[in-house]
Amino acid sequence: MKISPSLLSADFANLEAEIKDIECSGAEMLHLDVMDGHFVPNISFGMPVIEVLRKKTDMFFDVHIMISEPQKYIDDLIKCGSDLITFHLEANGDPKETIKMIKEKGAKAGISIKPKTPVSDVLPFINDVDLILVMTVEPGFGGQSFMADMMPKVKALREAVKNMENPPIIQVDGGVSQATIAECAKNGADCFVAGSAVFKAKDRKSEVECLRKLAEEAV
Ligand code: DX5
Ligand code: ZN
Repeated sequence: MKISPSLLSADFANLEAEIKDIECSGAEMLHLDVMDGHFVPNISFGMPVIEVLRKKTDMFFDVHIMISEPQKYIDDLIKCGSDLITFHLEANGDPKETIKMIKEKGAKAGISIKPKTPVSDVLPFINDVDLILVMTVEPGFGGQSFMADMMPKVKALREAVKNMENPPIIQVDGGVSQATIAECAKNGADCFVAGSAVFKAKDRKSEVECLRKLAEEAV
C-alpha cells in the first residue's frame, strides 16, 4: 500500500519546505500533477519546477501528466527527474508508442483513464505498464468529491492483473481521504494519491500513516 501525496495542494510559495515535510511523513512517493490548460481546464507547473525540486529530495517522483501531447515532453520530463510518468489514454498519440518512449528513456510508465473512459479501453496495455491510474474525479483540480462509481473499474483491473507475475500498480487519484480510501483498497487499489487530505492535515505524518493503515486494514 503506497501513499502518494499530490503537490497540487501544497503551498506553492514554500515548495521546498513542503516536500521536506512530505519526505518526513513516510509517504512512498510524491505525486506531481502537470497540466497544460488544454487536456484539462487548468495549468499547474512543468519541467522547471520538477527540475528544481529534484535537487531538493530523493523521493520517488510520480509524475501525472494531464497534457494533450505527451510524446513531445517525455524526454524533458525524464531529464528533469521524473521516476514514473503516467500519461492519459485519452491524450494524442499511440499509447503503446508513448509507453515505449518512456521506458526506453529509463523511466517507469503509467497509463491513466478519466471517469468517462471505460476500463475495457485500458486492458490492452496492462502487460506493458508499471502502473494504471483510475481517476476518481475529473482531472484538473484538487479538492473535488470522490466518485465511488469508479470502483467497478478498479475491481475489474485487479481481476485482470491477478495472475500476472509482476502486476502493475493500481492507483486511484481524486477525493481520496480517510472516508474513501478503504473502499478503494477493498476494490483492489494499492497506490493512493491524496492531495488535500494530506496537505490540509495538521499533522501530515499521522495523516499518511492513518491513510495507509485504513487501506491495509480494508483488505
Ligand atoms: C487532479 C489531480 C490530483 C489532485 C488530487 O486532477 O490529478 O492528483 O491533486 O487532489 P485531491 O486529493 O484533493 O482530490
Ligand atoms: Zn494526479
